[in-house]
Amino acid sequence: MADNFTHFKPVRIWQGLPIKYMTTFSNIPRLGIKAIDDEHKDIMLFLIQLKKTDTDKQKITQAFLDYSANHYEHEELYMARQNYPMDESHVHIMEHRRLASVIKKLVEKDGGILVQESIQKIKVEFLTHIAIYDKMWAEWVEMNQPGFRNPHY
Ligand SMILES: [Fe+2]
Repeated sequence: MADNFTHFKPVRIWQGLPIKYMTTFSNIPRLGIKAIDDEHKDIMLFLIQLKKTDTDKQKITQAFLDYSANHYEHEELYMARQNYPMDESHVHIMEHRRLASVIKKLVEKDGGILVQESIQKIKVEFLTHIAIYDKMWAEWVEMNQPGFRNPHY
């Protein structure tokens, strides 16, 4: 499926990583929509990177904020293309806005960086979001727009 979301360059920083990271990825609910599943891995990797680094914290935090904003936008573009029902789509988009605002507040509270406690909170927020809202969407896609799924990867 051609993807015209050209202004967004996924980082795929997880590619080629040691096997130990696979445990982190196995906690991410799988949607079966490859581009989005890959972005979820990137997001988790950003959080691991932020947790481990002592340098460039502000720079990585900003990159993470930009990446997640693009990620929400990417999902929303898919939903629009798939004619995902308005009600469900609206609730999902509002949830993206809430998530973005929670993260923004955590970043501002600590002067532009994410402290360990905030990183843990965000990880839980993301995994919960994926398990509820993204999964609900993916199940609808499976039933109604199977062409958007990539069953073999
Ligand atoms: Fe989402």
